[in-house]
Amino acid sequence: MHISTLFGALPVLIAILTPTTFAQTWSFCNPMNQTGCPNDIALGISNYSIDLTSQIMSTDVWNTTAGTINYDFKEGAQFIIEKKLESPTIQSNFHIFFGQVEVIMKAALGQGVVSSIVIQSDDLDEIDWEWIGGNQTHVQTNYFGKGNTTSYDRAIWHEVQTPQELYHNYTTDWQKDKTDFYIDGQVIRTLKKEEANGGKNYPQTPADVRLGIWPGGDPKNNEYTIEWAGGAVDYEQAPFTMAVKSVRVSDASTATEYHWSDQTGSMESIEVINGTKRAFGLDGNNSVSPAQTAAQRWRALSDTAKIAIFCSVGGVLLVAMGIMAFCCIKQRRAGKKERVLADAEFEKGTAELLAFRAEMNRQRALRMQDTKSGLGGNGYQKF
Ligand SMILES: *[C@@H]1O[C@H](CO)[C@@H](O)[C@H](O)[C@H]1NC(C)=O
Ligand SMILES: *[C@@H]1O[C@H](CO)[C@@H](O)[C@H](O)[C@H]1NC(C)=O
Ligand SMILES: *[C@@H]1O[C@H](CO)[C@@H](O)[C@H](O)[C@H]1NC(C)=O
Ligand SMILES: *[C@@H]1O[C@H](CO)[C@@H](O)[C@H](O)[C@H]1NC(C)=O
Ligand SMILES: *[C@@H]1O[C@H](CO)[C@@H](O)[C@H](O)[C@H]1NC(C)=O
Ligand SMILES: *[C@@H]1O[C@H](CO)[C@@H](O)[C@H](O)[C@H]1NC(C)=O
Ligand SMILES: *[C@@H]1O[C@H](CO)[C@@H](O)[C@H](O)[C@H]1NC(C)=O
Ligand SMILES: *[C@@H]1O[C@H](CO)[C@@H](O)[C@H](O)[C@H]1NC(C)=O
Repeated sequence: MHISTLFGALPVLIAILTPTTFAQTWSFCNPMNQTGCPNDIALGISNYSIDLTSQIMSTDVWNTTAGTINYDFKEGAQFIIEKKLESPTIQSNFHIFFGQVEVIMKAALGQGVVSSIVIQSDDLDEIDWEWIGGNQTHVQTNYFGKGNTTSYDRAIWHEVQTPQELYHNYTTDWQKDKTDFYIDGQVIRTLKKEEANGGKNYPQTPADVRLGIWPGGDPKNNEYTIEWAGGAVDYEQAPFTMAVKSVRVSDASTATEYHWSDQTGSMESIEVINGTKRAFGLDGNNSVSPAQTAAQRWRALSDTAKIAIFCSVGGVLLVAMGIMAFCCIKQRRAGKKERVLADAEFEKGTAELLAFRAEMNRQRALRMQDTKSGLGGNGYQKF
């Protein structure tokens, strides 16, 4: 911990003491089932990028939907499971309507621990990458259209060199007629639109980007999910850390918003709104407000780091120390409260995802069982 960090942080103390208000009125709304869902805010540019070894995500741009994210100058943004049922996850507040998502990352080690990149729309179109902590040779790519979990050969495992040890470049190039999945510049999978149930289940609606880690092998989950995750999580081995060095996202359009004009969930039903300005500014390399980034950097420091900063100072101005000690306690209390809330959040924020995965794995397991017993592919329908 460098003392110089303190001086960088000092001007920010004022900002911490000032309460921030951030209206969060958005709630999940599936445009195929409900009318009047809010428009999706578009990214609307090419090559939004953020280097997480030196920059912090803005809460305007990324919503932490469970847990907290740690930052490390070497590893970047860390998604850490320290104890049972933690599942730090972030979700972009922007959407892309086709485009590219590049993530330079290292998956978490640990049996039953799942690291993931998910590109997901409001009606559950989804493209994803998943790493199983106990598998150091493969990564899975998968997709869903309109939340259809019927499993044929959508999930594919690909070889990759020790993804829990080495950072790799996982890029998804999502286009109207096909999606290319790249690892370090090599195409490892191409999904053509027509392969996806004749195009009907091809991901085709404005989607956000989610990064996170979750205990797929938590004993609370059903046996299929635990099995898919590679076995039960042994929390004695925690912490389990997924680390993201950088993210680059391109939106294929230059829109400011996307409007779902009907309930078909088809790409044609999406109205591209070309306003003058996105509802929020960007962070990272596209930030126009470096001061805000400093404030966020400070807020994003872990409680221990903050305490370490305070404690390493020693003889600086007494008044400053007084203020800082106050903040220290305040932040620490806030931190504890946050953690309790974060734990509770697992149920709320992840339950839906888990239910989705569980169903997918249940169907897959049943299918496998039926194939083995010679019943053929449709046996699961009996249940
Ligand atoms: C949307 O509606 C479909 C069909 O009515 C239903 O199967 C699905 O569970 C609903 N999804 C949500 C998220 O409500
Ligand atoms: C965005 O970045 C990609 C990859 O680095 C590059 O190939 C492309 O030319 C860039 N596009 C624009 C519009 O800058
Ligand atoms: C951000 O910009 C810096 C300086 O131009 C560049 O070195 C870095 O690669 C960029 N980061 C990303 C993630 O594109
Ligand atoms: C951010 O996530 C929280 C927790 O899931 C949610 O309550 C809130 O509505 C989200 N905010 C936005 C802007 O999406
Ligand atoms: C990793 O996954 C691949 C693909 O499913 C599988 O062939 C391999 O046996 C797995 N390795 C371990 C250690 O589970
Ligand atoms: C990551 O891979 C994509 C796809 O091959 C490529 O366009 C991009 O330049 C790569 N990014 C870096 C930082 O190498
Ligand atoms: C779900 O996908 C399966 C497999 O592609 C397909 O047979 C089925 O018709 C799809 N269901 C819906 C509601 O689109
Ligand atoms: C916005 O611009 C795109 C591309 O120029 C165009 O296809 C689309 O129709 C425009 N949207 C509206 C609502 O005018």
